[in-house]
Amino acid sequence: MTSKAAELRAKGVDVINLSVGEPDFSTPKNIQNAAIKAMEDGFTRYTPGAGMMDLRQAAAMKMKRDNNLNYDPKEIIVSCGGKHSLYNACQVLFQSGDEVIIFAPYWVSFPDFVSVTGAKPIFVNTDSSKQFEPDFEDLANKLTSKTKGIIINSPSNPTGGVWSDEAVQEVLAIAKKQSLWVFSDECYEQLTYDKKYTSTATLTNDASQILTFQSCSKTYAMTGWRIGYTAGDAQVINAMSKLQGQSTSCPNSIAQVAAIEALIGDQSAVIKMRDAFKIRRNLIVDRFNSINGVTCEMPGGAFYVFPDFKNYLGKKFNGKEINTSSDLSMYFLNEKAVVTVSGDSFGAKNNIRFSYAASEENLNNALDRVENALNNLV
Ligand SMILES: Cc1ncc(COP(=O)(O)O)c(C=O)c1O
Repeated sequence: MTSKAAELRAKGVDVINLSVGEPDFSTPKNIQNAAIKAMEDGFTRYTPGAGMMDLRQAAAMKMKRDNNLNYDPKEIIVSCGGKHSLYNACQVLFQSGDEVIIFAPYWVSFPDFVSVTGAKPIFVNTDSSKQFEPDFEDLANKLTSKTKGIIINSPSNPTGGVWSDEAVQEVLAIAKKQSLWVFSDECYEQLTYDKKYTSTATLTNDASQILTFQSCSKTYAMTGWRIGYTAGDAQVINAMSKLQGQSTSCPNSIAQVAAIEALIGDQSAVIKMRDAFKIRRNLIVDRFNSINGVTCEMPGGAFYVFPDFKNYLGKKFNGKEINTSSDLSMYFLNEKAVVTVSGDSFGAKNNIRFSYAASEENLNNALDRVENALNNLV
């Protein structure tokens, strides 16, 4: 998709890219300035492997302030993005013979993080009409004596679904019974639009086997800075630090200083971005639901919608059948220059992910094109 989009752009075609997994805003000025000052002040050397103590303290303060989580800085590691943290944690906790529960549709990296440890990803269905909460019957059927962990990602990429506290608690109760490790990927925790986010570890009296993953990427429009952090059991955090120390030495020192400003400095940009995303979410969901035959649930968070196009699969354009969500996504690109990500990659065969990290003008133009493309199918 990316190379095809680049090819079209080079030909002068007006491509609208709704495949992006990052805010379209710039990193707030106060954070940029903190990085400039960090360089001027000489923060240009290696830091401790798990991150600067000042940053681990800032992360602890942020998690207390925003999420009511109580972690000691020693229970926190800073990594090169949430992705790096998740990878490290899988390496430390899972191995061949283990099984790890992943809810489908899932973020594409989860199955690979698990597979490279030798463990097996086990996919559990979700209910699209209930913010993609787990199908608990399917979950019960998939648990075995080999199950070692469960990955929760609410708000979710790709669905935007935000689980109810009750659904998370039900998963936690199941996990506790079998002493499973629970990964709570909270990288979209600041991007919920209908209710304040509740961190998973606050929903139980015993959070000893819960790892909380957060990130500066989406919250502060800092995807390129590569700063994420994880909190949980000190022994696991220590093992992750050892692994990280041997692979990357430490996260970028300048970005770490900037992240302190992000986490405990002025938070007004977070609110502004959230308000803009909410307007766009409502716009894009309304537009999709006004198209005949498309179902688009109202996601509670993140910046993705995940409409269902099953009524259009099997139709034809110029005699050529559009059979899969990949075919449809490619058709939107080839005929209308709209870039999306097909649900196939997330384990959902009827859906396509549209990111609304784009201007309202671009969203409206893209939706005009998509609607027209769907009307041209017979
Ligand atoms: C669900 C989810 N988790 C984690 C990440 C990792 O983000 P980062 O490594 O930039 O912190 C992403 C990024 O797209 C994501 O969508």
